[in-house]
Amino acid sequence: MRILSGIQPTGDKHLGNYSGGFRQYVETQERGDAFFCIVDLHSITVPYDPAALRSSTLDLAAMLFAVGLDPQRSTVFVQSHVKAHAESAWLLQAVASYGQLGRMTQFKDKGEGKDFVSAGLFTYPVLMAGDILLYQADLVPIGDDQRQHLELARDVAQSFNSRFGETFKLPEGVYPTVGARIMDLQEPTRKMSTTNGTPQGTVRLIDEPDVIRKKFKTAVTDSGREVRRGDDKPGITNLIDILSVATGETREQIEARYADGAGYGQFKGDVGEAVVELLTPIRERYLLLRSDEAELLRLLRTGAEKATATVEPTLRALYDRMGFVQP
Ligand code: AMP
Ligand code: TRP
Repeated sequence: MRILSGIQPTGDKHLGNYSGGFRQYVETQERGDAFFCIVDLHSITVPYDPAALRSSTLDLAAMLFAVGLDPQRSTVFVQSHVKAHAESAWLLQAVASYGQLGRMTQFKDKGEGKDFVSAGLFTYPVLMAGDILLYQADLVPIGDDQRQHLELARDVAQSFNSRFGETFKLPEGVYPTVGARIMDLQEPTRKMSTTNGTPQGTVRLIDEPDVIRKKFKTAVTDSGREVRRGDDKPGITNLIDILSVATGETREQIEARYADGAGYGQFKGDVGEAVVELLTPIRERYLLLRSDEAELLRLLRTGAEKATATVEPTLRALYDRMGFVQP
């Protein structure tokens, strides 16, 4: 079983990224031959700062190992270190249509009202299709927001296969069942996000324990007192999801545990403690890994070598079937 996912090295990673992304990566690495790609080539599709890209790439590498990706089992690498990603992005543009790309909601959302919209923001999903298809991936653990891009990757694979001959496997997405959308603690109708959320409502994975406690203590709750989920209770519903992610209890178990009327204050304190317990070892491992850049780069180089060797046969087939003269 081949598994592949990608994540952008932008912004500090937060509890939503853990819940909707990292947590699943760690689970899926048990199910087969897993590849996790730090997609730096995707990050240049919106205006960015080169120095920040360099440090965020290393930050993310340290974080991926800190949350539990095991370099002995999983291949963690940087997209730009494996040239096949940029090459396949160009080649696959022959089978992805302009109309198809224009329907991508993320392109519309990220491009809307901006002075400058790069051509790369438009073709971004083709780069992502190449990331996945080059590895002949069976499973792609991703967040809900990437569903449409995965569909596009499948469409691209099908078009290529029917036009140039059977080359790519059709990948399946794996989506989280709980915690696929963690909301901002201050504005629970909006997604938690380092770039679009409120600072006080966003729990960074490297926040100090006291900062985390404070963010939960001041989390917005809803009217009433009962700790239960419901459309009328976005704040409490979100906190129940977060507690479930942190402790592994089901949401029903959590509701039952608070059915005796413990009150919101107690509940919020408990969620904060559970998150501190979850994140403290991650933060400690992160700081240690991040302090040794030479070792991080060594791990990433080893990952890139394995990834390069893995995609080589598919890349060759791609050139060959498309009619390029082999050197
Ligand atoms: P981003 O860093 O916003 O590009 O998100 C990268 C990935 O993290 C997404 O594809 C999701 O898998 C996950 N993610 C981001 N924000 C959240 C959130 N608020 N709740 C759950 N998952 C999230
Ligand atoms: N586009 C994805 C995001 O922004 C990241 C990504 C790039 C990806 N290539 C991928 C995810 C391949 C899964 C598989 O979250």
